[in-house]
Amino acid sequence: MLVAVLAGDGIGPEIVAQARRVLDALAIPDLRFEEALVGGVAYKAKGHPLPPETLALAERADAILFGAVGDPDCDALERSLRPEQAILGLRKALTLFSNLRPAKMFAELADASTLRPEVARAIDLLIVRELNGDVYFGEKGMRKTADGLREGYDVMAYNEAEVRRIAHSAFRAAQARRGKLCSVDKANVLETSQLWRDVVSEVAADYPDVALSHMYVDNAAMQLVRDPGQFDVIVTGNLFGDILSDQASMCVGSIGMLASASLDANGKGLYEPIHGSAPDIAGQGKANPLATILSAAMMLRFSLGQPQAADRIEAAVARALAGGARSADLGGTLGTQAMGDAVLAAL
Ligand code: IPM
Ligand code: MG
Repeated sequence: MLVAVLAGDGIGPEIVAQARRVLDALAIPDLRFEEALVGGVAYKAKGHPLPPETLALAERADAILFGAVGDPDCDALERSLRPEQAILGLRKALTLFSNLRPAKMFAELADASTLRPEVARAIDLLIVRELNGDVYFGEKGMRKTADGLREGYDVMAYNEAEVRRIAHSAFRAAQARRGKLCSVDKANVLETSQLWRDVVSEVAADYPDVALSHMYVDNAAMQLVRDPGQFDVIVTGNLFGDILSDQASMCVGSIGMLASASLDANGKGLYEPIHGSAPDIAGQGKANPLATILSAAMMLRFSLGQPQAADRIEAAVARALAGGARSADLGGTLGTQAMGDAVLAAL
């Protein structure tokens, strides 16, 4: 089994290195790793954030372990050359349409949350974010209005096949959890969302064991901080999912904790922390590697057929936290390497 390791920019290499240590410690037979450049570092070395050889490796691999992309040096580049295009390009080229972002409170972190501990403690939810469509991939551009004003535009669109396939992913995820699915949209205003709501409701007929509800995204944002314990699985579009998953991450204590899987229809996937490249702390050994380590666990579970190894990583993270391991984002003083050490010791 081949894992493509794309560490990327900023804190990417530091956090991916800790995930690699954990994977190496598990000594899984026949697991091979190959590295390639992605993001701003790839642009600087090869002139493109997603060079052909990186894409080829990602296509050939059974799974992709991804760090982060984003580099302030690249802010002035035309959009197609910016580091972010690498992750968007991989998601699209490999049809990784189903993005699973679990947010579960580790009991030990209840006071790292900005929510009251008794509210935060109840969080155990999964955001299923559509990743191949929406305003991210619609037609976009800059034009002039009739009176000469600059106008930027990004088209939001979903077709029913795109909604149907993510709906099936979400219903299946809900079946494997507590059987509750909340579909989040803005159907009171957007046609895209009306179609979304209609199609999700149609797909519900195939899953009589799942209780489906619908919620407007503004209300969902409010409910996530009012009573996050009410959610089991949330399914939503690309943009709303991007926003709500950052929000959910802070509810469980830190954006440094949330892992993700981006899956195609056959279980191949890209695994990455939901946070970015954090250029402000890059190279300082301060970043929390737990989201990446937990992403590696998801990789073992969903793409590499190693659910027990995944369980072991997750248990080790919980033990490390229970033992008091805290990086700066969690209110502690441990650096990236020391957090990795704590997980390895627990393992
Ligand atoms: C994420 C990130 C990306 C996104 C960026 C880096 C393009 O915010 O994975 O949540 O918007 O999807
Ligand atoms: Mg995001």
